Amino acid sequence: MKVTLSVIKADIGGYVGHSSSHPDVLQEAEKSLAQAKKSGFLIDYHVTRCGDDLQLIMTHQHGVDNEKVHKLAWDTFLACTQVAKKLKLHGAGQDMLSDAFAGNVKGMGPGVAEMEIEEREAETIIIFMADKTASGAWNYPLYKIFADPFNSIGLVIAPNMHCGFSFEVHDVKESQKVVFNAPEEIYDMLVFLGAPSRFAVKAVYHRDTGNIAAVSSTQRLALIAGRYVGKDDPVCIVRAQGEFPAVGEVLEPFAHPHIVEGWMRGSHHGPLMPVPIRQSNPSRFDGPPRVVAAGFQLAEGKLVGPLDMFDDPAFDNARQEALDMADMLRRHGPFEPHRLPLEEMEYTTMPQVMKKLAGRFQKI
Ligand code: F6R
Ligand code: MG
Ligand code: MG
Repeated sequence: MKVTLSVIKADIGGYVGHSSSHPDVLQEAEKSLAQAKKSGFLIDYHVTRCGDDLQLIMTHQHGVDNEKVHKLAWDTFLACTQVAKKLKLHGAGQDMLSDAFAGNVKGMGPGVAEMEIEEREAETIIIFMADKTASGAWNYPLYKIFADPFNSIGLVIAPNMHCGFSFEVHDVKESQKVVFNAPEEIYDMLVFLGAPSRFAVKAVYHRDTGNIAAVSSTQRLALIAGRYVGKDDPVCIVRAQGEFPAVGEVLEPFAHPHIVEGWMRGSHHGPLMPVPIRQSNPSRFDGPPRVVAAGFQLAEGKLVGPLDMFDDPAFDNARQEALDMADMLRRHGPFEPHRLPLEEMEYTTMPQVMKKLAGRFQKI
C-alpha cells in the first residue's frame, strides 16, 4: 500500500517566552486534524511538539506537496495562532510569514518533510524534531547513519545495506541540488556537508532498491523572510530496519552531541541535546538546542506509536556531555566561536553601531 507521511511544523507562539508550547494550542491542532481524519481525508495523525514548535505528523494517500494537505496544515496553524493570540503567547503566529495561502506551505514559514512510500511488511519510522537550531543540523547525523561504518555496522555486515546510500544535497543559498553516492564519493560530499549553514541533506536513498530512506526539512526562515523570524527548528523522517539502518544505528549519532547553530537569538553555536519530548523546553540561555525522536510503526497508514526514543537512560551520558559542552561554550560569552560569525548572526546591531561611530574610524 502506498502511503504519504507528511510532517509539517511551525512555531506559532511560545510558552513561556520561546521555551515550550501551550497545551491549548496542541489541543486546537488535535481538533483540526481529528476532523480531517474523521472525514477520511487523513488516514491518521499525531500532534506533538518540540520546544515551542508545533508538529503535525500526518498520513494520507494524496502524495507529497499536495495542496489540500498543505492547506490543512496552514489552516490548523492559523486556528492555533488564534488560540496563541488569545493567551498572548510570545511570538504568536511568528512562522506564518504570508497573509494568504498560495498552494504550498513551503516558502511561507512552516517547515516540511514528506515522503511517499510503499509500506513494508513492518514499516519502522523515526521522526526527529529539533528546536533552537537551523536546517543543516541533520547533516552530521544523516552522514553518520547512512555513510559511517563506525556508526552503522550494517553498512559493513548487512548484505542488504552493503551497497551504500545516495545523498541529495541542497545548496539552500543558490537553490540548486547535487546527488552523491556513498561510500565512493564521501570525500567530495563532506566538502559540502561540513558547511551546514549553506548545504543541507534533503534526502537519502537506498542505492539498490532506489527506495527513499530519509527526508528532511531544508527551509531556511532567514532566507525566506530576509529578516530574523526565529530559527528553522527542522524536522527529519528516517526509515529504519531491513534494508535501512536499525533503530539503534539511526539513534547512535546522538550519543555524542554535535555542535549546531541556533540557541540564544539564533546567533550562537551550541550542542544538540537529545531529550524526551517532555524535556524539550529550552530554558538555559534559551537552550541548549534540543532534539527529540518519535518512533512509529506504520500499519496501513495508521501511526502506531509514538515511542519517545530518547526517553532512555542510555542517552544520559549524551545529555551530560551536552551540558558540559554548553558550560564550556557559555564561558565565551559574546565571543566567537560561541557567538556566530558576523555574517551568520540572526540578530545584529552592527548597522546602528556603525552609524553611531561614523566619523570615529581613522585610517591606519
Ligand atoms: C532562538 C529563540 C530565542 C529568541 C529570544 C529573543 O531561536 O527563539 O532565543 O531569539 O528569546 O526573543 P524575542 O526577540 O522574540 O524577544
Ligand atoms: Mg519561538
Ligand atoms: Mg522553536
